[in-house]
Amino acid sequence: MAGEHVLIVDDEPAIQAALRGVLEDEGYRVTTLGSGADAIHAVGEESPDLVFLDIWMPGLDGLETLAELKRVRPEVPVVMISGHGTIETAVKATKLGAYDFIEKPLSLDKTLLTITRALEHGRLARENAQLRAALSDRSDLIGESAALRRLRQQITMAAPTNGRVLIHGENGSGKELVARAIHAGSARADKPFVEVNCAAIPEELIESELFGHEKGAFTGAVQRRRGRFELANGGTLFLDEIGDMSLKTQAKVLRALEEQAFERVGGRETVRVDVRLIAASNRDLEALIRDGRFREDLYYRLAVIPIEVPPLRDRKEDIPLLVDHFLAVFSAENGRRAKSLSGEALAYFVAYDWPGNVRELRNMVERLVIMSLHDVIGPDDLPAPVRPKEEIVPAEARERSLKEAREHFERAYILAELKAHDWNVTRTAERLGIERSHLYRKIKAYGITSPR
Ligand SMILES: Nc1ncnc2c1ncn2[C@@H]1O[C@H](COP(=O)(O)OP(=O)(O)OP(=O)(O)O)[C@@H](O)[C@H]1O
Ligand SMILES: [Mg+2]
Repeated sequence: MAGEHVLIVDDEPAIQAALRGVLEDEGYRVTTLGSGADAIHAVGEESPDLVFLDIWMPGLDGLETLAELKRVRPEVPVVMISGHGTIETAVKATKLGAYDFIEKPLSLDKTLLTITRALEHGRLARENAQLRAALSDRSDLIGESAALRRLRQQITMAAPTNGRVLIHGENGSGKELVARAIHAGSARADKPFVEVNCAAIPEELIESELFGHEKGAFTGAVQRRRGRFELANGGTLFLDEIGDMSLKTQAKVLRALEEQAFERVGGRETVRVDVRLIAASNRDLEALIRDGRFREDLYYRLAVIPIEVPPLRDRKEDIPLLVDHFLAVFSAENGRRAKSLSGEALAYFVAYDWPGNVRELRNMVERLVIMSLHDVIGPDDLPAPVRPKEEIVPAEARERSLKEAREHFERAYILAELKAHDWNVTRTAERLGIERSHLYRKIKAYGITSPR
């Protein structure tokens, strides 16, 4: 495909010129650079479609450069140019992720063929990664923090049973995703998953929504209608925002659970269903019980298996993974080349507390993918409140002592650097200018866990 961007990295001007000539004649856009360090910098700024990389260069050699390029942009194919190609170097480069080799002196045919293949390979790899991300977006819980692993384990244990599950967690923390995962892991997976948002349905309609109604039950009931309990028969009924249900509806739901049966509104026939119930709330149900606004007996019926979804600020090590995931998802959705976040921008993401949890982070990444002009999203692209423009210290942070503020920042910064160095502690410690053992102690003290 014409117009694709090829980066040539070779310290010999003759090779640069020869390759440039051939490639430009074929309609490619070409950039030439003379050193590995320049190449790493350039690829961090703008992602090329293909890189030609000389193995023997002064300074950073081809293999070192290759390793770094693969870390920054694993999806970009790299073709090594070798002069005195030895088997060992070839094996090493392949292990590091090189796509192919061409040998000096360069043959025109072999070079063109390699380019076509490598570009095709890169395009497929990109498409695959984006498809995978888009597919998994609806069902997978992303994250490798201890808290998320525990959550996943609870889901695995609860899913195959028929036990009622009560999920508690803040707005946007992933309660619905957990409910869907439990359904998907159960024997009911191929039966319906039916959701009712108790907060969104007006009080006078909720009963009919849940249990259905007979023709003529009330004004506007022009024909019999089945409720969500019936629609979920054989499957799972997800009662969302259960804390917003009125006491009257709570009484009806309780009865339906106790008797495994109910009547449609305005009907006499008893309907029996086989439904597994999963409920969720972001409210403190125990406090509602104390205030007399939630029935204790219903609470205990629903909370056979209680699951707590932790807020994102308590599992900050998941932030980099979630960012990568949503970058891939939204780049695919918008037909864009995958964008990435610079290390500094990521540090802002990690430092921010995300009161709207994963949903807020997801929306922020979507906005950045659509609005930012560069492949690499930098700190200047970040809007408030992720990057406060005027207030250097955000209001809620002002309550912190200096020690707390420093620790907060230090943890976020270490996390972002670890992620940027692929969780390699030695390299991260070098980068941060501290001893490896010192970094280990910090990682332990801050409870940071690597995704592996
Ligand atoms: N661990 C996660 N991995 C990937 N995506 C997630 C994760 N947690 C939440 N999401 C995504 O974040 C968004 C909000 O999640 P979800 O709707 O499950 O939250 P919720 O707790 O039900 O929120 P609310 O209380 O506002 O209803 C969804 O788009 C969901 O796919
Ligand atoms: Mg929800």
